[in-house]
Amino acid sequence: MYAVVESSCIGCGSCEAVCPEVFRMNDEGLAEAYTNPVPAEKEESAKEAADICPVNAIVLD
Ligand code: F3S
Repeated sequence: MYAVVESSCIGCGSCEAVCPEVFRMNDEGLAEAYTNPVPAEKEESAKEAADICPVNAIVLD
């Protein structure tokens, strides 16, 4: 499942823009992965969001 390393996230919002079904911004302006497990049809866009993060804050754990 995907997770956002909060200490790394700079709040750029790209993950939410690419895959809002899995990632959203919280009240602190940081991303969180709120859909686990990721539905099969969203795997590709979730991976794209992880790849696009400029600080590699999205990890698979
Ligand atoms: Fe943060 Fe990366 Fe998303 S910086 S807002 S986890 S694209």
